[in-house]
Parts: sequence; structure tokens; C-alpha cells
Amino acid sequence: MLGNKTVNAKNHLEIANVDVVDIAEKFGTPLYVFDEALIRASMRTYREAFTRHYTDFEVAYAGKAFLCSYMCQIVREENLWLDVVSGGEYYLAYTSDFPTERIIFHGNNKTEEERKLVLKEGVGRWVIDSEWELSCLLEEAKGASVTVPVLFRLTPGIDPHTHAYITTGKIDSKFGLSLLEGIAEKTIKKALDSSHLEVRGVHCHIGSQIDTLEPFLKAAEVMLRFMDDFRRKYGYTLVELDLGGGLGVPYLDQDQDRFPSIPTYVEAICKKVKEVCQELSYPLPRLIVEPGRSIVNLAGSTIYRVGTVKEVPGVRKYVAVDGGMTDNPRHILYGAKYQAWLGNRVKGDPLERVAVVGKCCESGDVLIPEIELPAPCPGDVLVVEGTGAYNHSMASNYNLIPRPGVIFLKDGKAELIVRPESFCDLVRRDIIPE
Ligand SMILES: Cc1ncc(COP(=O)(O)O)c(C=O)c1O
Repeated sequence: MLGNKTVNAKNHLEIANVDVVDIAEKFGTPLYVFDEALIRASMRTYREAFTRHYTDFEVAYAGKAFLCSYMCQIVREENLWLDVVSGGEYYLAYTSDFPTERIIFHGNNKTEEERKLVLKEGVGRWVIDSEWELSCLLEEAKGASVTVPVLFRLTPGIDPHTHAYITTGKIDSKFGLSLLEGIAEKTIKKALDSSHLEVRGVHCHIGSQIDTLEPFLKAAEVMLRFMDDFRRKYGYTLVELDLGGGLGVPYLDQDQDRFPSIPTYVEAICKKVKEVCQELSYPLPRLIVEPGRSIVNLAGSTIYRVGTVKEVPGVRKYVAVDGGMTDNPRHILYGAKYQAWLGNRVKGDPLERVAVVGKCCESGDVLIPEIELPAPCPGDVLVVEGTGAYNHSMASNYNLIPRPGVIFLKDGKAELIVRPESFCDLVRRDIIPE
């Protein structure tokens, strides 16, 4: 089992010492459930590891993995920065009283409305993704009479060997400034001439769910060599290096040892940065990382109720739950693998090989194509593990299915922190023209 889970005397699954059957009865299903202590622990592990190996650093939680007002509060309390990627995420952080000077603002196509909002309310780092964005920002920062601290997102040309849809740092990418033909350096040079931009450094994010250290270390080296070249050519020292997120996590028991731990990852990148800086006689930059998945994924699970159970003789048994690709699109998107338990009968015989599917009108609406469970029946509680990252934030209303609520477990208690959507919410924005 992943995370802080146990089986109690009733043969029920407990998450953080709370019985999932009680949770399902009290809050209804489907429901996202997070163990708050695990989230805080991974945030602390990042900061503690950096404190051991590096002096000047920031850990920015990547809100795209999972964000809501209470999460912003936790990020603030744990002294992390926050990476946001849209006006909506920025607005949520801002209205949750998250300090704007600790927000990193990303996006490969920031709209005028988004740019205006962030310029007005302020930001810790604005990550410029393209030449066009730079030209907009130069004018708009001047117009607003503000000075914006900026990083430049570069594509270092590293293949992290993860799923193509979550690979972002290869040469052929919609993100960032290419190193080819001097595009990146010319763009940064242009920004140096403006008194409304404070050029702090460079950023890269090579991909997500990465299971080896090597691509991170290669990326750090490429970025530092770029910084050094830039200093030689233009006499300007870029003082910050943001290496993005991307550390992978296990989704299955059998993968528990496949991924570098947070301390191993942090130690390795700090060591690499120090080595390359020493070789180049480059002053140690402030180092920033933006982990998302590795902070929240293991802490999250989704609780469903089993409905239809259907046997196709000699072919397969389908176990349908009251959610699906609307609350977890990751299997249909990337073929992501999950494991699950029957929360009300964790151990039992006989085990049956079944497919766990959702309730959407798509044959691809599968959560787990093959899993052994103790003969699931209608009414059982099914718990899918490792759904903390990119589930709530990627949820949709396809088939007008309301999105689940979110509860956080802490000190043996369950608190609702995002209420479930109602049918009423689903029709609230509709207008019938006269
Ligand atoms: C710019 C940036 N930073 C950080 C992250 C977080 O990545 P992960 O959740 O894999 O740590 C992402 C994810 O796509 C990203 O695009």
C-alpha cells in the first residue's frame, strides 16, 4: 500500500488512521482524500535536504498538481514559494492571501487579462516563455510603471525518457526559448536594456514523472553552461537557476524502489550545480525547484462506490464506479497505472481479475484495466491510491458529471476543504438568449 494506510480490525482500509468506509458514508462518493501530514512532510523533506546541501535556494510548490485555498495556506505555512501557470491559479493564490512576492508566474501563452492582473498585484518571478511575451511585457511593465523580476524559460534539449505528453524540455517543444540560433540569449539580452525588467536568471522544466537523476543533472549542466556563455558574451551574471519540477513517484507497490527519493534528488542536483560552477568559476546561483507530483501524489486517494458489476463470459469482468475519467483522466491520457483496494473488505477471497471502469460514455473511460480484487459487488467502497497529483486539477464535467469534493485528514479528523459540485453548479453559467 502507498502512503499512510493500514487495515483495521473490521477489515476496512484506514488512511491516516481514519476508516474510509466512515468517510464514504459521511461525505459521499466519489471523493478525493488527502493525508495532510504526508503533504507537509514532503514539503519539509525538500527544504531540509536543501538546507543540508545548499545555501541559497527556494522550493516552489507547483500548484498545477493540486491547488485550492487551503493548499495555498499550507504552502505558505511551510515556507514554500508557489508556481502558478494561469490567471486562475494566480487569482486563487492571491485571494487566499498567499504572498505575491513568493509566486512564480508561468505560461507559454499568458493572455492580456492574465498579464494585467499579475502586473497590477505583483509577483515574485515572472517566467518569460517567448520573444513575443517579452515584447508585450516590456511595454506593459513600462505602462504600469513597475519593475518585474524575471526568469527566462529555456528548452535545454534534454529527453527525460518519460511519456511524450509530459516531456517539455526537448528541442521540439511548445515551451520556452530555444537555444538554437542564439534565440534564448538574444531575447535575454533585449530584456537587459529595459529598466522595467530585473533579469534574475533562467528556468527549465524537462518533464514530469522522471525516474532517474541523469536528465536532471544533464539539464543543470546545460543551463549553467548557457549562463556562463551569457556572462562571457554580455558581461552579465544570471544569478538564479530554476530547474523546474519533474521528480517521479511510485503509483504501484512494485515500483516503490524505482524512483530517487527527494533527499537523493536534492543532493544530486546541488552537487552537480556546485561541481559545474566550480569548473566554470561561476558564482553559485540561487537554486529554485518546482516540485508538484512528488509533494502531493502519495498523499491523495480517491474513494468511489461500486455500482454495476458486469461479466462478459470468458472475456472480462467490469466493475463500474461512480466516477471515472472526469475525476481521473490520467489513464486515458497517458496510460497511467493505478492500484486500488476494496475499502470495506480489504482482504478477502476469492480474488478476481477485473477491470475498474468509470461511468462516462467512452469505452476508454477506464481507471485500471486489470487488477485483482476480492470479488467486488455493488455497494463496495473502492479506493484508488496515488491520485493526489493531476486528478482534481485535471477533472472535467464531461457528461455533466459533477466534480468530487476534497477532504483533508489531520489528527484523526476529516475536514471538507473543497465542497463537491452539485447539479445546480453545473447549470449556473447557462444563459438562454432572448
Ligand atoms: C514549469 C513547471 N514546473 C513544475 C512542474 C511540476 O512538475 P511535477 O509535478 O512533475 O513535479 C511542471 C509540470 O508540468 C511545470 O510545467
